[in-house]
Amino acid sequence: MKYIIFNWKSYLNLKETTSLSRLIASFSKSKKHKIISAPNNFFHLLVQKKYPKNTLSAQNIDLHGLGASTGSLDISYLKENKIKYCILGHSEVRANFKDNDQTVSKKFNLCITNNITPIVCIGESKSVYKSKKTKKYLKTQIDNIFNKKTSYREIIVAYEPLWSIGTGLTPKMSEIDEISNYLHDICKKYSFKKIKILYGGSVNLDNVSDILGLQKVNGVLVGSASTKSDFIKYFK
Ligand code: 13P
Repeated sequence: MKYIIFNWKSYLNLKETTSLSRLIASFSKSKKHKIISAPNNFFHLLVQKKYPKNTLSAQNIDLHGLGASTGSLDISYLKENKIKYCILGHSEVRANFKDNDQTVSKKFNLCITNNITPIVCIGESKSVYKSKKTKKYLKTQIDNIFNKKTSYREIIVAYEPLWSIGTGLTPKMSEIDEISNYLHDICKKYSFKKIKILYGGSVNLDNVSDILGLQKVNGVLVGSASTKSDFIKYFK
């Protein structure tokens, strides 16, 4: 079963979000694909009410807690509303809201203690990629975020090279394969029941079947292509 996660970021308005959610709800249950959509955080409750069988993810949470914190999204809201997944450490959140591995690690722990499955995004810059230090960079990110003393139920890691997000560029299939193998390998020193390694960054109709054909790639995290009904219909 491959995980197909649609990160709709802030691309869609309510009407578009509802329409794509309706399309997903019309698919019969598949053994091949598990579809999770991450609408803008503002729209979850409405989508959930209209299409209760759709699986939803939040796009982020913050660490300010409940109380006097204007604009926050606390983890308890996810829990209360049965949102089971949360994207963490996305490069856009790292860039716009200054999250770093330490912040991501705290959010990760919050997800774990609240039984929310974290979708942890990691990925190297173009200069790290060019200097062939990708593996070392990713290992440091994993080691900064995971904890050897904790037993995890389910974790999802999305390998999203920063230079690939929204650019139309992707690593070679052999590189995606190699990195996914490597991530499975280095994660073995942590304790978990289930781990999924996903690839994200310029996934589209032209490359998705090759990427999903890689045995160690357990799924894809898709941004802009996932806002198009033609792409979504591929997973019908
Ligand atoms: P694109 O698919 O638009 O490159 O975005 C990838 C991404 O950021 C998914 O989280």
